[in-house]
Amino acid sequence: MNIILLGPPGAGKGTQARILVEERGMTQLSTGDMLREAKDSGTEMGKIVADVMARGDLVTDEIVIGLIREKLAEGGNGFIFDGFPRTLAQADALAQLLNECGQTLDRVVELRVDDEALVARITARSTCGNCGEVYNDITKPIPADGKCSNCGGTEFKRRADDNEDSLKKRLMEYYKQTSPLIGYYYAKGQHTRVDGLGEIDEVKSAIAEKLDG
Ligand code: AP5
Ligand code: MG
Repeated sequence: MNIILLGPPGAGKGTQARILVEERGMTQLSTGDMLREAKDSGTEMGKIVADVMARGDLVTDEIVIGLIREKLAEGGNGFIFDGFPRTLAQADALAQLLNECGQTLDRVVELRVDDEALVARITARSTCGNCGEVYNDITKPIPADGKCSNCGGTEFKRRADDNEDSLKKRLMEYYKQTSPLIGYYYAKGQHTRVDGLGEIDEVKSAIAEKLDG
């Protein structure tokens, strides 16, 4: 089963994708994580995207479609597209890429969360520098011994775009460019919606119902 997790910044896409990877052996394809990796390793592409991402703007379709094309060419299935597609052009490209490798898109799960909750979540987020486990100062604090519960890592990072100004921009980009995908997938009969405001486990169960129902 290949699925898209669709939702604004802070909706919980990454958190839920990691749970699906662990519990169902699926493969998370997060374009945000791929772009941050390129930025951290200092590749040419990473240098180009660094400022764009820090401002909260979208990276070009060409770059992100290229990243997804490479991953799909490596083979496998059970993909969770996290943060991709984000524009109608990306959605069309994904349909074509899946078609070319004989795969289907089975569900699009929209995580619905209101804007106030998103700001609170994002400004309290940190991630493990080693394995990427996602934490939150309020709802999922780093363990008291200072070690990541997943890998034991002791370095935690905050993202350059997790500030109020960039977040406003990211939200506007979501409403302008990405939210039209809700209608796009609704028209194809693939869209489902989950209340993303509940606790992490509640959201997990709501997603499971959509995937298994
Ligand atoms: P990306 O990395 O995709 O960021 P995003 O979409 O802004 O989403 P986030 O990763 O911020 O949020 P999330 O939904 O994963 O939430 P999380 O689980 O971490 O993209 C970053 C940038 O890269 C873009 O702005 C753009 O520049 C570029 N980019 C990426 N893809 C692109 C594309 N396709 N096209 C063009 N440009 C692209 O959770 C957030 C916090 O909330 C955490 O602290 C977590 O612990 C907490 N939390 C999660 N769930 C719950 C819950 N149920 N209750 C309470 N707290 C919760
Ligand atoms: Mg994420």
